[in-house]
Amino acid sequence: MTVDTCVVLRSAGVSVVLDVTGGRLPAIVHWGADLGALTPDDVGTLIRAGVRPVASNLVDEPARLAVVPEHWTGWVGRPGLSGSRGGRDWSPRFTTSSLRVNDSPAGGRLVEAGAGSVEVVARDDAAQLELTLRIELTRSGLVRSRASVTNLGADPYQLDDLVLAYPVPQVASEILDLAGRWTKERVPQRHAFTVGTHLRENRKGKSGPDSAYVLHAGTAGFGFADGEIWGVHTGWSGNHTHYAERLYTGDQMLGGGELLLPGEVILGQDESYTSPWLYGSYGVGLDAVAHRFHRFLRARRNHPSVDRPVTINVWEAVYFDHRLDKLLALAEAAASVGVERFVLDDGWFGARRDDHAGLGDWTVAADVWPNGLHPLVNRVNELGMQFGLWFEPEMINPDSDVARAHPDWVMATGDRWPLEARFQQVINLGIQECYAYIRDAMMAILDEYNIAYIKWDHNRDLIDAGTAPTGRPGVHEQTIAYYRLVDELKAAHPGLEIESCAAGGGRVDLEAMLHCDRIWVSDCIDPLERQQMNRWTQQLLPPELLGSHIASGASHTTGRSHTLNFRAASAVFGHLGIEWDLTRANADELVELGAWVGFYKENRSLLLSGDLIRIDDPDETISAQAVVAPDRSRAIYSFAEVGRSIVTLRGRLRFSGLDPNRRYRVTPVLLEHAPVVKPPVWWGVEPDGSSEFDHLAAGTAPGLRPTEEFGVELTGAALATVGLTHAPTHPETAILYLAEAVD
Ligand code: GLA
Repeated sequence: MTVDTCVVLRSAGVSVVLDVTGGRLPAIVHWGADLGALTPDDVGTLIRAGVRPVASNLVDEPARLAVVPEHWTGWVGRPGLSGSRGGRDWSPRFTTSSLRVNDSPAGGRLVEAGAGSVEVVARDDAAQLELTLRIELTRSGLVRSRASVTNLGADPYQLDDLVLAYPVPQVASEILDLAGRWTKERVPQRHAFTVGTHLRENRKGKSGPDSAYVLHAGTAGFGFADGEIWGVHTGWSGNHTHYAERLYTGDQMLGGGELLLPGEVILGQDESYTSPWLYGSYGVGLDAVAHRFHRFLRARRNHPSVDRPVTINVWEAVYFDHRLDKLLALAEAAASVGVERFVLDDGWFGARRDDHAGLGDWTVAADVWPNGLHPLVNRVNELGMQFGLWFEPEMINPDSDVARAHPDWVMATGDRWPLEARFQQVINLGIQECYAYIRDAMMAILDEYNIAYIKWDHNRDLIDAGTAPTGRPGVHEQTIAYYRLVDELKAAHPGLEIESCAAGGGRVDLEAMLHCDRIWVSDCIDPLERQQMNRWTQQLLPPELLGSHIASGASHTTGRSHTLNFRAASAVFGHLGIEWDLTRANADELVELGAWVGFYKENRSLLLSGDLIRIDDPDETISAQAVVAPDRSRAIYSFAEVGRSIVTLRGRLRFSGLDPNRRYRVTPVLLEHAPVVKPPVWWGVEPDGSSEFDHLAAGTAPGLRPTEEFGVELTGAALATVGLTHAPTHPETAILYLAEAVD
C-alpha cells in the first residue's frame, strides 16, 4: 500500500502542513504562522499552488523537497541520507508504505491533528533500506523530527550522513546564529542568506562553546520583538551539523543532524541508526522563537521547580587547595548570606592535587580528606545546605591508576594516543567494562554521601577519538553512553540533579537538557560578559537552567573589576549562585550580598517562571531585559549599562511586555544599593541625609529613601510605548525595576 494523505498539525499559533501523497516522503508545504482550519481542498490547492513551472535545465518533474531530501528527485542540494554498500545503493528512492498520526494508523485525504505526531515508514526494496521518519509538533509549537535508517540487506551499509531539513520561504533573507569560544560563549553573528551553504560543523565530541546553537533565518532586520523568524537546533551533544542552504533554484532550507566520522556507523543486517531530533521554532521576533523552546522544556515532567537553591561553588574560592578548615569557614559564610547548596569542585579525589593527575580515580583522596568528605558534607547539611560534588566522568589523566591499569580504555585511533589537552585524555565509555567501572565508582560515592547535585564536567575536545582495538571512530557511542550514564545515576538516586558543564558552557543542547537540570554558562563570570552570554544562551534555555553566579570583585578570567551591584543584578536572572571566597569578603559586601540573595529568594518564582523579554535598543551601550509573569501581574526589568553612550541621557526606556490595558506601579528595587548618579524625578525619592561625598569617595550607592510618591503608576500601553526616563548611572552597573499590576 502506498500512502496518499496530507496532515495538518496546529498548536500555539503554528501550522505545519505535510504532503505525504503519492507514496513519497513527507514534505513540508507550510511551517509557520497558524493558517486556521483548512479543508482537504484547501490543502490540495496549497500544494498545487506551490508546484513550480519546470524551468529550463532542470529535471522534467518539479523537484519536491522532503524532510529527508532525496537526490533522485533532482534535488541537487545536500541529500538527507548519504551512504553506500561499497559504492552501491547510494541514492535510494523511498516509497512510503505506512502512516501513523498520533501513534495510530491514519489515511484519507486529510488528517488534522493539533499538537501531535506523524510517523511514516518507507522502503527502497532495491537498495534494501528502510526509513522511519517521525515529525512532531509540540504543545509549545516546536516542530521536531528524527529519522531511523535500517539495513535490510545482508551486506553491510556504511552510513555517512543522515540530516533532516526544513524549507523556509524566500522572505527569510538574513541568517543569525551563534559563535563563541571558551569564556565567551554564544556570540551572535549575522549575515545575508546567500546562495551556497552556511555550514556549521562541530567535531569536538560535545556541543561546543562555538556551536551554532540556534540557526535562524528571518526577514530583513528581525529583532527580539519583530520579524518573521524560523530557527533550527540539532539536539545532540556529540559531533553535529547545522546548515542553511540556498540553491540556485531559489529553494532554501535549514537543516542539521549528527556529524558521523568515516566508518563510524556501519549497519549490519537489520541494524538501525537513529538521528538526533532536529528542532524548529517559528515566531515573530527572537523572543517568540525562544519562548517555544522554553515552554517545551518547562513542560517536562522532571523540569526543576522554581525553588532553585542558591548555590555556592568553591572553584574560584579555593581551586585545588582543598583544606577542611577553609572549606568549613566558606560553608559557614555561605550559609550566613542565605546559600542553600554547597558544591565541592575539582580536586577531592585520587592524586588530583592539580590538573596533571588523578582524573579517572574516583575515590576520595585520603591524604587530603583523612576522614573522607564526611566532616564537610555533615557540616554543610547541618547548616541546612545541600551538598554537590564535581566529576569529570569521561576524562582520564594518563597519570592515574586507571590509565596505568587500562591503557586501552583511552580513546585513540589505534597506533598512538591523541594529543593531550589539559593533560588529559578521554576514557572510552563505549567499552562496556570501562563504562561499568566509571558508573560503579560514581555510584559508590553517591551511596556513601548525601549528594543532591553533580557538577558534570567535560573539559577537553574529542580528538582522534577512536575505540580499541581497531581504532574506529567512537564519538557516536561515547555520546550515547553519556546519556545512559546520566540516566542510570539518576534512576538509582531519584532527585539527583546534574549540571552540564564542559569547560564552562561547552555542552549546551536540547538532548543534554532532556537528561540534565542546569548548565554552567561559562567559566567567565565577569558580569559584562555575562550580560551578553546569558542573553543569548536564553535563546534556547529558560533562565532557571542557567548557572548564574556572583563572583569576586575582580574577574578571574578577564581581570576586570565590577561592583557587587553589577555582579548581582546580572546574576539574578538565572539559577543564582556564588563563586567567591566569602571568607575574604568584608562586612559591607556580606550585607549587600545577603540583600541580593534575599531579593532573589523573594522573587525567584517570577524570575524563574516568567516570559523572557529582551528589549531591542538602538543604543548598544544599554542591555535591557525583563521577566514577565505569565498572567502579566508582575515583571522585573533590568537596564544594564554595558558601555558609555555618546549621549548624556538615553531618553525614555520602554517597559515592554506588560498587559497594555492594566495599570502598573513601577519602582526601583533594592533602593539602598541602586547605583544611580542622580535619581530621576519619577522615582519619588529623596536623599537619606548621608554625605554625597562620602558615597562618592567610597564608590557606594548615594543613599536614598522613598517618599510617599515612590515610583510611578501607568498603563502597560504607556509604559511600553512612551516609557520612563532613564536614570543615569556609571558604566557597568545595572538598575532593576519591579512592575506590579495595581488593578
Ligand atoms: C572546568 C569548569 C570549571 C571548573 C574546572 C575544574 O573548567 O568549567 O568551573 O570546574 O573545570 O577543573
